[in-house]
Amino acid sequence: MLITNIKALVGVHSKEKLFLRGSELNQLPILENAWLLLEDGLIKDFGLMSDLNTQYSNLNTFDATGKFVFPSWCDSHTHIVFAAPREEEFALKIAGKTYEEIAAAGGGILNSANKLQKATADELFESASIRLKDMIKQGTGALEIKSGYGLTVESELKMLRVIKRLKAAFPIPIKTTLLAAHAYPTEFKNNHQGYIDLIINELLPKVAEQGLADYIDVFCEKGFFSNEETAQILTAASNYGLKPKIHANQLSSSGAVQTGISHQAVSVDHLEETDDEVLRALSNSNTIATLLPSCSFYINIPFANAKGLIENNAIVALASDYNPGSTPSGNMNFVVSLGCIKLKMTPEQTINAATLNGAAAMELSNEVGSIAIGKTANLFITRPMTSLAYLPYSFAQSQIETVILNGEIYH
Ligand code: NIG
Ligand code: FE
Repeated sequence: MLITNIKALVGVHSKEKLFLRGSELNQLPILENAWLLLEDGLIKDFGLMSDLNTQYSNLNTFDATGKFVFPSWCDSHTHIVFAAPREEEFALKIAGKTYEEIAAAGGGILNSANKLQKATADELFESASIRLKDMIKQGTGALEIKSGYGLTVESELKMLRVIKRLKAAFPIPIKTTLLAAHAYPTEFKNNHQGYIDLIINELLPKVAEQGLADYIDVFCEKGFFSNEETAQILTAASNYGLKPKIHANQLSSSGAVQTGISHQAVSVDHLEETDDEVLRALSNSNTIATLLPSCSFYINIPFANAKGLIENNAIVALASDYNPGSTPSGNMNFVVSLGCIKLKMTPEQTINAATLNGAAAMELSNEVGSIAIGKTANLFITRPMTSLAYLPYSFAQSQIETVILNGEIYH
């Protein structure tokens, strides 16, 4: 397929550019009045309309007059496999209860785990498929999905197998993260080591043997998993080749970021509590700082210090955190708007953070995240837009008109 008359082809980074650090995030290369050739599912070539080769004139052509072409969003942090939404907590939240109070009262993650344990794999697959289709229509073309609502060996494996089915059923790259250490199940409330031993001695060997996960995650937080507990799990997982992508500094600043970095985490995610030590730890680090502004928005917690991280030469990515408790939305267009409105990032920075750096946070930036020859042709075409900034400016709306995955229009 040939796309012609593109008003702006966005994110034309060189193929060697695998992530953007610090002020590099300002650089969003754009080709105006361009064409783009897709072949065999890949980006084959692109150029200026003034140089369009006539040999392409008999190809299937999409006229993108007035429209922008973006690389698909790369959403590197989601929990989209769950059994039921949690609207009952929404009412409590409106009445003023905090996320921690709701969790302590038996809501939260344990509530979702109860429901997931009772759900069949087919039910989980069906409901996650509906969420994923919505996300794809909203421009997501690569994502990560976590377990973490099973909290037993059997139910964590059930979740991971559902993610494996999603990988096979959907035409986008999906990475899987084992998040058994999401909360302590009630029966292990006073026996933390018992649950950690279960994860390390029973679950991890099965997950590794069956190749069911790419990464390990821990909710490293006061009232959840301590730094020492997190370190034990990350060390055990590294023996199976699972690198960390952890929940860090969401509700408190307790050293989670440093624990992740010391275990060579691919990313540390959330960072709503971005103190000076966090900025120092992530300064020039290869561990990616993944920010989730929809979560701050929904549960009314601080927004991460994106500007501080960028000034300190960190690698900043944006993701949705789609889950039933803290972020019941997987709309990356809204994430990008919040990145501008609440994190005070520029449109260019947010778009880079939600594409190339998101891909890097899944170790997929060889494959997706920018417009480069040889990369997978996962992209979206907007409605006619006046400028690049119109996309984040028109918040909570989608400017996406056409989604292309593997070089084909997605219906
Ligand atoms: O990223 N904080 C931990 N995990 C999720 C929320 C999980 C839930 O409330 O169900 C998050 O915010
Ligand atoms: Fe999360």
